Amino acid sequence: MAVLIAFYSLTGTTRTVVAELARHLQADIEEIRCKRYGVSFTGWWRAAADSWRGRLPGIAPATHTARNYDLVVLAGPIWAWHPCPPLRAYVRRERADLPETALLLTHGGSAGQQSLDALQAWVGKPPKARVTITAAEMKSGTYAETVAHFAQTIRPRPPLAPVPPAHVPEVLP
Ligand SMILES: Cc1cc2nc3c(=O)[nH]c(=O)nc-3n(C[C@H](O)[C@H](O)[C@H](O)COP(=O)(O)O)c2cc1C
Repeated sequence: MAVLIAFYSLTGTTRTVVAELARHLQADIEEIRCKRYGVSFTGWWRAAADSWRGRLPGIAPATHTARNYDLVVLAGPIWAWHPCPPLRAYVRRERADLPETALLLTHGGSAGQQSLDALQAWVGKPPKARVTITAAEMKSGTYAETVAHFAQTIRPRPPLAPVPPAHVPEVLP
């Protein structure tokens, strides 16, 4: 099963999580690039204001074709109680071509479920799996377990190959 992870990250948390997930899934990665936001007071203010108002920024053209995959994981941070606008812009652009999806949001500890609901509504169909990862999980390192479990839900390990019957030598008279 071919898996693409499309993600946006401003301060690196989602990037770390995505690297771990890609390792489990052997997935391709599409980084959503957006120049509008930055790590500065103005950049954060703009990020929060756009997210709150539902304003969509410009994003760079995609480097992977979503419809060539069996499943696309959509990942990004929560800003101002909503999934971040660059992720929304990606979903809006790719929506018609999205195969089955799985949703992953990172956040500081508030609005996780409501943001997953919003992202799911933007996609327009139920995902195979959805998860949020908090700053506390990142700090303690337990996020790795959450990611492993999420990966397992997305792509269950194939059953063990059947063991061939033991060879019983023919007893000759
Ligand atoms: C502008 C802005 C708004 C944020 N709003 C929220 C929020 O509403 N709820 C929350 O739990 N975390 C919020 N956060 C924290 C981020 O969601 C969290 O740090 C996330 O993991 C950052 O991901 P990134 O490093 O991949 O950009 C906000 C961060 C920024 C920069």
